[in-house]
Amino acid sequence: MTETKRYMVTSALPYANGPLHIGHLAGAYLPADIFVRYLRLMGEDVVFICGSDENGAAITIRAKMEGTSPQEIVDKYDKLIGETFKKIGIHFDKYHRTSSELHHQTSQDFFRVLNKNGEFVKKTSEQYYDVEAQQFLADRYITGTCPKCNHEEAYGDQCENCGSTLSPTELINPKSKLSGATPELRSTTHWYLPMDKYEEWLRPWIEDGTLNGEKHHEPNTWKSHVLGQCKSWLDGGLQARAMTRDLSWGVDVPQELEGSEGKKLYVWLDAPIGYISATKQWAIEQGEPDAWKKYWQDENSELVHFIGKDNIVFHCVIFPIILKAHGDYILPKNVPANQFMNLEGRKISTSNNWAIWVHEFVEDLPGMEDVLRYYMIKNMPEQKDSEFTWKSFQEANDSELVGNIANFINRVITLTNKYYDGIVPEIDINLAINNSIEENKPGNYSEEIELMLKHLDKIDQFIKGYDFRNALKEVMAISDLGNRLLQFNEPWKKIKTEPETVKTVLHLGLQIVGLLSGVSKPFLPFTSDKIQGLLNLPSLAENGGLASIKKSLMNGDSIVPSGHRINKQQHLFSRIPDKVIDAQIEKLNATLVSEPTYDPVKETATFDDFTKMDFRTGTIIEAEKIKKAKKLLKLTVDLGFETRTVVSGIAEFYTPEEVLGKEVVLLANLAPRKLRGVESQGMVLMAEDAQGKLGFVSPESGFGNGFTVR
Ligand code: 2FM
Ligand code: ZN
Repeated sequence: MTETKRYMVTSALPYANGPLHIGHLAGAYLPADIFVRYLRLMGEDVVFICGSDENGAAITIRAKMEGTSPQEIVDKYDKLIGETFKKIGIHFDKYHRTSSELHHQTSQDFFRVLNKNGEFVKKTSEQYYDVEAQQFLADRYITGTCPKCNHEEAYGDQCENCGSTLSPTELINPKSKLSGATPELRSTTHWYLPMDKYEEWLRPWIEDGTLNGEKHHEPNTWKSHVLGQCKSWLDGGLQARAMTRDLSWGVDVPQELEGSEGKKLYVWLDAPIGYISATKQWAIEQGEPDAWKKYWQDENSELVHFIGKDNIVFHCVIFPIILKAHGDYILPKNVPANQFMNLEGRKISTSNNWAIWVHEFVEDLPGMEDVLRYYMIKNMPEQKDSEFTWKSFQEANDSELVGNIANFINRVITLTNKYYDGIVPEIDINLAINNSIEENKPGNYSEEIELMLKHLDKIDQFIKGYDFRNALKEVMAISDLGNRLLQFNEPWKKIKTEPETVKTVLHLGLQIVGLLSGVSKPFLPFTSDKIQGLLNLPSLAENGGLASIKKSLMNGDSIVPSGHRINKQQHLFSRIPDKVIDAQIEKLNATLVSEPTYDPVKETATFDDFTKMDFRTGTIIEAEKIKKAKKLLKLTVDLGFETRTVVSGIAEFYTPEEVLGKEVVLLANLAPRKLRGVESQGMVLMAEDAQGKLGFVSPESGFGNGFTVR
């Protein structure tokens, strides 16, 4: 009996320690969403899962930074991330959490099986320990200089600059993330996975796509940068890797095991098992608790992991070893990792706030979810790093979404309403095929249908080859086809003279709109729904999806049938005003901490020059605003032997209340001058920073008034 094929698709579990930014979307979520939506529309059996990665140092460090508990951190960000995915149209069958009981049990059971199978080796070794914080420092608890690229802020497990996987003892100049102190070495015992033991099957699986001597997958379907990283890992020699940690937060090592006290599972052991526990939870919610098994344990399932490039080794080497060592699981057919997306010429950085946060995007630019998706897919870092710029985002919207797709669809819908009162024109297909429009000209009926099918095939090939950029180009090519059809035949000129031609053109135009609605769904789901609405058709899911659209085209049937009434036109996309884009650029730039600039040192002053100035200590005893002068405050300064009135340009930085009682230094022999009608008898000394911000130069508090400063 040949069972039908099914797909198990996963997206990297985001750490619940911060919001999602566009780099996350481009890496692991959008491509998976497109892939899954497409397969579904073609009638395939797919389960798509994800969830929050809630264990490990990434969480506890964040909790410390925000001055709260790990539980509060994961609750807060799990909620925010989950909502953000929904808003941007990324839909998982299950978005789970690794803090859940089910996940703790599932990963502990995994650990027990591996332990029972004798896959671990227990070893005692010297590890870094922070004496102040009284804690061992693994992974992200420790930073230092990367021995491979000299990046100064590499983590104990990984350098995010060059992508190398590290161990804490390799770091040059290690520092504790908790106290900043240089840690000392202390001995501790852990469970290790001797990865070298698995090289015998791992290497042919990665290099030739064979497993146990049989073909498992075509190795050339894996991206070259993924294969490259895997090979360099293999060539560098696989080493034993600790699968447990000395931590207070995470999944406990099963308590019945000797030496388990205070030990947690390594987060990179439990997180990918999170894919399995999420699928279990999905199955429970389906009312078929065992349904997860066929997706994870049956050879007819195709397991695909979508991730960013910093996760390659964990998904292509470590997790496959764990799955195979367990014995009951299938291995991934592909791990189509993406590279990174940069932003306006810089690396996206959470710590420097150099990012576009997705939840802020949907707030700031409501209704533009698909514009973001479009631009991100068009620039998806599939083979190499790519770049997001706000200007090219605007350009892509204005010229491609407005100028191409919206323009075409709007014209077809408007003309159909105008000429036929919204009813799809009846055409005689034979007549249309035979003579309405010449061969090799836009609008020749059978050629148009053939072209539509060709684009559909290409979309299929590109999506199945994880080439979403090119798949999107094919969608746009279908819209081009429509625009050429209108441009060449100019129905607005022929409606009186060649009514039959116009019927064929608009009938065909509507079929192209129907096809666009189907093919755009994986990429631009909100727009696809709007197009279905314009066409007054039931949702694609109810309508047999793309599979049925394809069937109609192949059988010479209409996607949007003659006699069907469509709806009135409605804007799909609009141009983005410059001020909207400028505001976003400004918002981003405001996060840049500008490098301080320093005034050059002035020309030499002699000692005599200096002694000419009479600086005195004083106290501000009165202060008030000067009417109609935004920058000026009128101050009364007590010099002990007399008081002075001084006009000072500090009103933008200080209120009168704030400066009352302030001890200051006054240049007492400055020639008096009138400012806004007030005579200023001296000058209060202020320091000015690179941004023009002013701050007082003050004597030691309580020093006393009237004394000379020299
Ligand atoms: O790099 C990360 O953001 C990890 N939280 C990804 C985990 S993927 C999986 F293994 F769970
Ligand atoms: Zn590095």
